[in-house]
Amino acid sequence: MPQSEFAGVVAMVTGAGQGIGAAVVRALVAEGAVVAAVDRNAGSLAGLAEESTAVHPYVLDVADSQAVDTAVELMEDQLGPIGVLVNVAGILRTGLAVELSDEDWSETFAVNTSGVFHASRAAGRRMAARGRGAVVTVGSNAAGVPRAGMAAYAASKAAAAMFTRCLGLELARSGVRCNVVSPGSTDTEMQRALWGEDPEAAERRVIDGDLEAWRVGIPIGRIAAPADIAEAVLFLASDRARHITMHDLYVDGGATLRA
Ligand SMILES: NC(=O)c1ccc[n+]([C@@H]2O[C@H](COP(=O)([O-])OP(=O)(O)OC[C@H]3O[C@@H](n4cnc5c(N)ncnc54)[C@H](O)[C@@H]3O)[C@@H](O)[C@H]2O)c1
Repeated sequence: MPQSEFAGVVAMVTGAGQGIGAAVVRALVAEGAVVAAVDRNAGSLAGLAEESTAVHPYVLDVADSQAVDTAVELMEDQLGPIGVLVNVAGILRTGLAVELSDEDWSETFAVNTSGVFHASRAAGRRMAARGRGAVVTVGSNAAGVPRAGMAAYAASKAAAAMFTRCLGLELARSGVRCNVVSPGSTDTEMQRALWGEDPEAAERRVIDGDLEAWRVGIPIGRIAAPADIAEAVLFLASDRARHITMHDLYVDGGATLRA
């Protein structure tokens, strides 16, 4: 079997502790990458690091600009040049737009938007200087279609997606590609936290649609597995996507009708 192009490549993944981030880490490790796994949850990172010696945990909050800069410098000293950055860390605060607190709004943007900015700036400037690299930001399909109760989240993800695409434009001539993967409902703790008392009925509503909430459902008829999202991330990070940049790939089973 030919060696994977990711063999020995240093990949930084934020939000690595669980869910989609952990699936991205496992997929990269399976391809031979060395992963700088970032999360603010030390416990879940430690569990992931036990799975493979290729996983190197860095406990930090991506909302903290200084902490991100320091950690990226340390990663490059310890592991080598970062070839791939995957921004996955994110939080979801739900609530009607007119009732959101200042904290819900600012914390959502601090992680989902500024966190992407901090990590992409630190890794992107190093990649550009070396003339090579790939950034993939995990956004959300809520960035492309209005969702009731998700105004702060959707707006923060739309901002992160456009930031990533502008970065892609600025770094294109430096050999750095920047793309977005926008998942729909994916089976993780973040998703299950929305399901409440009767998870089976809630899952059915997500798949079948809920006109009360102005949602049409998922045409493909299933909730995504975290590995489905990781697959798209690895493709965009790989040389198979060498002519793709500034793209926003929806992986949502058709839930937004790609409108
Ligand atoms: N699950 C879904 O249905 C879904 C849908 C669309 C988009 N997304 C996006 O995918 C990404 C991953 O979601 P998930 O479902 O795996 O979520 P999750 O809540 O299961 O995991 C998120 C991880 O990010 C970490 N994290 C959160 N804030 C952080 C911070 N400030 N600094 C460092 N780490 C932080 C958490 O500790 C956790 O390990 C998020 O950006 C989310 O918005 C998820």
